[in-house]
Amino acid sequence: TLVRGRVLTFKRRPHGAGDSAAYSYFEDGIVVAEGGRVVDVVDGGEMSRVAGEGAILHDFSGKLILPGFIDTHIHFPQTQVIASYGEQLLEWLTKYTFPAESRYGDPAFAGVQARFFIDELLRNGTTTAVCYGSVHKGSAEALLAESERRGTAMFVGKTAMDRNAPPDVLDTAQSAHDDTATLIAAWHGRGRQKVVITPRFAITSTPEQLEALGSLARDHPDCLIQTHLSENLEEIATVRRLFPERADYLDVYEHYGLVGPKSLMGHAIHLTPREIQRMSESGTVAVFCPTSNLFIGSGLFDYKGLEGGTHPVRIALATDIGGGTSYSMLATAAEAYKVMQLRGQKLSAIEAFHLMTRGNAEALGEPDLGRIAPGAHADLVVLDSAATPAMAHRLAAGSGDLEEELFVLMTLGSDRNVHEVFVGGRPQGLGKAVS
Ligand code: GUN
Ligand code: FE
Repeated sequence: TLVRGRVLTFKRRPHGAGDSAAYSYFEDGIVVAEGGRVVDVVDGGEMSRVAGEGAILHDFSGKLILPGFIDTHIHFPQTQVIASYGEQLLEWLTKYTFPAESRYGDPAFAGVQARFFIDELLRNGTTTAVCYGSVHKGSAEALLAESERRGTAMFVGKTAMDRNAPPDVLDTAQSAHDDTATLIAAWHGRGRQKVVITPRFAITSTPEQLEALGSLARDHPDCLIQTHLSENLEEIATVRRLFPERADYLDVYEHYGLVGPKSLMGHAIHLTPREIQRMSESGTVAVFCPTSNLFIGSGLFDYKGLEGGTHPVRIALATDIGGGTSYSMLATAAEAYKVMQLRGQKLSAIEAFHLMTRGNAEALGEPDLGRIAPGAHADLVVLDSAATPAMAHRLAAGSGDLEEELFVLMTLGSDRNVHEVFVGGRPQGLGKAVS
């Protein structure tokens, strides 16, 4: 399979606007894919050399080809929670989220929702996501099975929560441990799927449950761990009341063995200097969820403070549907930019596109995702920067500079700019490939 267009992929984290050594770009490039992987990336001039017998050409000349986007924090059972009015975190969970998640106890319902969920991710150019299921093991199984069917790489956890929520969305310390262990045995590393150890957050887990999941994490050091950290001030005060013996919120997770380079901490907005230092020393990832942080009114993530402080913290970017308001990583980057503006910081387009692709892959410890290079999975997104009248009109006055185009794309972009997406080298039929 040959995919032709303007190929952009990152080699390392950019240091800011204009850092063109951080990426490689072919104005006319061809991605050569075989068996689900990229085998070569060449200049269009080498067409005759790479076009072997029976090769299928997908010609997207003029359009941008990037690695498929990676969403590092999204809630599968919250597709019908998006756009719920008027509440901040704890009330939002009680009023909208827990009731919506309770429906995922029905495996048939979860199966139908899984199809919608992966359709919607792919329509937005996202080919890998790190997902929270509901408390029900069957919800994670439904999503993993659908992902396997589609060929995508999804990282999924059964959400563990054994207190401070309605009975129909509660498990126990033991069942959370056993259900997660069962999922790991059945699904972790099966094809492209992986299982994530997923305590919802400190408020909804007893010390016994955190202990049980910490022990599971020690048994499975290659599994990611995901949870929420210091998103909202009321949440933080509640955690302090529930765990008065711990130094701070992060220390709750650290005490139970849930902190380290495999740990993804959603939000991480209101951090103390001690927490920042420990996140830095332990290699823990802070996951920036800008649309959610604005929509739920949680606060302004300190991107540059965490990235470039005395104790630098690894950062990933995510939608956090359904606290977040868009499935699009482009729209998510636009909101990240605005949050940073309010903090007097700048997010360049190349830093944003790096984050959505290779940066997020590195946060997950996945060297074969998020880049277009020999050996990487052939997950690609084909973007049309001029897909809307407003964007075409804006770009017509532009200088033709790639970084300017990328900035327009993230600022005004959405699913409308996603022309086609490839999963493991296979086009998903969103657009018109000319062969
Ligand atoms: N904290 C605990 N659960 C959740 C959730 O579902 N969404 C968000 N945004 N924060 C949380
Ligand atoms: Fe979340």
